[in-house]
Amino acid sequence: MRSTIALSLILALGVHSRALGWHARAITERDLASNATYDFVIAGGGTAGLTVADRLSETLNVSVLVIEFGPFDQREDEVMIPGLFPAIPYFWLPLMSTPQTALGGTSYTVPCGRVVGGGSMVNAMFMSRGSAVEYDTWAQLGATGWTWRDLLPYFRKSETFNRPDPIYAAEHNITWDDSVHGFQGPVPVTIAPYDYPGSANFYNGARSLGIRAPKDSQAGDATGIYRLQRAVDAKTQARSSARVNHYDRVIDTRPNYHVLPSTAVSKVVFQGTSAVGVEYINTASGVKGTVHASKEAIIAAGAVHTPQILQLSGVGDASYLSKFGIESVADLPGVGQNLQDHLVLSVGYNFTSNLFPNGGSLRTNSTYAAEQRALYNAQQPSAYDLSTSTGNLFIQLPLSNLTNASASIISLAETRDPAELLGGNPDPGVLQGYKKQRKLIISSLNASGVGDISWNTDFATSLYMVKPLSRGSVRINSTDVLTAPLIDFGAITDPTDLEMLLAVYLKNRELMATPDIAILSPVETSPAPGLTDKDAIKDAIKKTLTPTNAHHCCTAAMMKREDGGVVDPQSRVYGTKRLSVVDISAWPLIVAGGPMGSVYAAAEKAADTIKARHGLL
Ligand SMILES: Cc1cc2nc3c(=O)[nH]c(=O)nc-3n(C[C@H](O)[C@H](O)[C@H](O)COP(=O)(O)OP(=O)(O)OC[C@H]3O[C@@H](n4cnc5c(N)ncnc54)[C@H](O)[C@@H]3O)c2cc1C
Ligand SMILES: *[C@@H]1O[C@H](CO)[C@@H](O)[C@H](O)[C@H]1NC(C)=O
Ligand SMILES: *[C@@H]1O[C@H](CO)[C@@H](O)[C@H](O)[C@H]1NC(C)=O
Ligand SMILES: *[C@@H]1O[C@H](CO)[C@@H](O)[C@H](O)[C@H]1NC(C)=O
Ligand SMILES: *[C@@H]1O[C@H](CO)[C@@H](O)[C@H](O)[C@H]1NC(C)=O
Ligand SMILES: *[C@@H]1O[C@H](CO)[C@@H](O)[C@H](O)[C@H]1NC(C)=O
Ligand SMILES: *[C@@H]1O[C@H](CO)[C@@H](O)[C@H](O)[C@H]1NC(C)=O
Ligand SMILES: *[C@@H]1O[C@H](CO)[C@@H](O)[C@H](O)[C@H]1NC(C)=O
Ligand SMILES: *[C@@H]1O[C@H](CO)[C@@H](O)[C@H](O)[C@H]1NC(C)=O
Ligand SMILES: *[C@@H]1O[C@H](CO)[C@@H](O)[C@H](O)[C@H]1NC(C)=O
Repeated sequence: MRSTIALSLILALGVHSRALGWHARAITERDLASNATYDFVIAGGGTAGLTVADRLSETLNVSVLVIEFGPFDQREDEVMIPGLFPAIPYFWLPLMSTPQTALGGTSYTVPCGRVVGGGSMVNAMFMSRGSAVEYDTWAQLGATGWTWRDLLPYFRKSETFNRPDPIYAAEHNITWDDSVHGFQGPVPVTIAPYDYPGSANFYNGARSLGIRAPKDSQAGDATGIYRLQRAVDAKTQARSSARVNHYDRVIDTRPNYHVLPSTAVSKVVFQGTSAVGVEYINTASGVKGTVHASKEAIIAAGAVHTPQILQLSGVGDASYLSKFGIESVADLPGVGQNLQDHLVLSVGYNFTSNLFPNGGSLRTNSTYAAEQRALYNAQQPSAYDLSTSTGNLFIQLPLSNLTNASASIISLAETRDPAELLGGNPDPGVLQGYKKQRKLIISSLNASGVGDISWNTDFATSLYMVKPLSRGSVRINSTDVLTAPLIDFGAITDPTDLEMLLAVYLKNRELMATPDIAILSPVETSPAPGLTDKDAIKDAIKKTLTPTNAHHCCTAAMMKREDGGVVDPQSRVYGTKRLSVVDISAWPLIVAGGPMGSVYAAAEKAADTIKARHGLL
């Protein structure tokens, strides 16, 4: 304890930790002197926060503190073994949405990780990239320098792609393209070496409908049918979270990289408009403190909590914040607007002649489960390599491949009044940005993913509508960081989104009717068995869908300030100095697949930008 105090004092006095010979580690709030200073303080130790912390601390004379709301995990089986995920204790519970107006006033759980590693610690581990046109659209909205071409080097830098065994790959129609992958980065990207026989039925059924099989889904066109790539260690098949690949990997060589867990950042401290540090509160003891950031404060608290921290700090819609007595530092009405997520619809089936084993066998057959667990423990291909209840194959389709009704859906979208969709009286800048977004989205509906279909060979098929035109919001309802903000998904407030989900649903029916899948005798059990009337099906879908796939994003968008943007292309918050946002909040638009691959790549790019402006590259 004595030496800990001595070290904190040295730190507080601004002596750089290189000389100290101590190791990167978890610190407690007692280890921080009352007025400690770091070069960079990062709020949120999730996927993006730990990526940026790792890169900034590569320069050993630069000190970095990450403050994370949640604890460190204990490498529990539910954390490490894909077939046992998710680790419920590390979720943010309870966290609920506001009643969804277009969904009969229902409130839904908001899934978020609250742990060192954030979402990467509790998620299904899929490492996807969007299609080139999706990032190019970001650039068109003001994220200059963030096109697919600009990001590709960072996708490569972020990962080590593990080529699958060639014999297994050939048997399972797995192909890949070395030229788009990285082979020296921190995040291992692996294709599971195990699959259920029913996957062949799914694959062949999709192919019989003319769905393409790309050489590699990560090459800039993510449409088609393919096996999912995942952030999993190739040898052990254990989860590689950001905690593993951007903290554990480097801690022995980074005396300058600290993580303070179980502590909430409650606000950014400003001198004028310059961020000079953050205030924090220990979530167990309630002890509060301040830590200084001599170079920058960096926000990476995820799409729900980044806008909360900004608003609590006086960065947001000044008139809204004044209702809480919060003095405005930067009047940015876009903070907390532009919330987007994927819609999820689970379609239940009774496969009266399913194959064995299948995605349900671990649950229903304890002999099989024990056999598979022994194989997993022996590092042999095993059903536990697959993420619980999720499919291993993925179909992603543009609108015109989902439905013959694409032209009418598009013209329906064009007739909507954007101002009304944003609640009737939106901020003019936010409205202008939304109008630009709608134009670009509508014109690319035939060119990149709109609907996704995944079947885990068990009783449910998961459908996703991934190009939402509806917008939600995150707004504080209290000046206390420990009180949840108001999270409104705004789900299907633009009814076009429901039409597009219906198209995915009907496409899935077509797929289930192909001879390859029909041989398994699927009988729909929910949400609309036997229904053929489209309005009746839509009603049934509305009652069953979930407005989030935990892919919430875009609440501090990198767009032009006059279009409701919050950060500039260098990730700096408009109207402030020394304040950045580096997480999924900064995306202008959601991408069609899982976000984690793009979160890692975008954080790599943001870290480079930050290093460049401080002469650290
Ligand atoms: C159950 C689940 C399954 C998912 N499955 C997939 C998948 O298979 N593939 C995929 O691509 N994506 C998936 N995702 C989404 C993906 O994990 C997220 O998009 C990604 O982690 C976002 O990264 P981030 O760094 O922006 O935020 P996060 O990873 O969420 O990190 C934010 C961190 O900030 C912390 N924080 C919040 N407020 C404060 C505060 N006031 N002070 C300090 N710290 C704070 C949080 O505790 C959290 O650790 C899933 C997410 C969940 C929850
Ligand atoms: C705390 O540290 C900051 C910056 O290092 C300094 O400006 C300030 O005077 C210090 N305050 C106290 C009370 O020591
Ligand atoms: C760290 O070293 C680099 C050059 O090696 C220098 O440019 C930078 O100012 C130093 N940073 C600090 C915080 O001392
Ligand atoms: C691979 O594709 C061939 C047809 O090209 C098909 O016969 C086979 O069933 C497929 N196997 C899997 C596992 O998808
Ligand atoms: C969509 O349809 C077009 C035209 O038939 C085809 O060329 C393309 O490969 C299809 N896309 C997918 C993802 O299957
Ligand atoms: C599912 O199939 C089994 C026979 O395999 C049958 O007994 C059962 O009633 C079916 N359930 C539904 C909901 O159709
Ligand atoms: C259960 O699993 C065992 C071991 O794989 C297998 O031999 C058996 O046939 C399975 N039982 C059923 C009912 O599928
Ligand atoms: C469009 O209709 C034709 C003819 O009925 C059908 O063959 C085709 O699969 C449909 N296309 C889509 C994308 O549903
Ligand atoms: C999308 O494709 C459909 C069918 O091919 C076509 O009618 C429509 O004009 C296309 N829309 C756009 C915006 O490309
Ligand atoms: C928001 O705050 C008000 C005032 O404290 C309270 O009455 C209301 O219940 C809160 N709303 C939610 C959803 O917590």
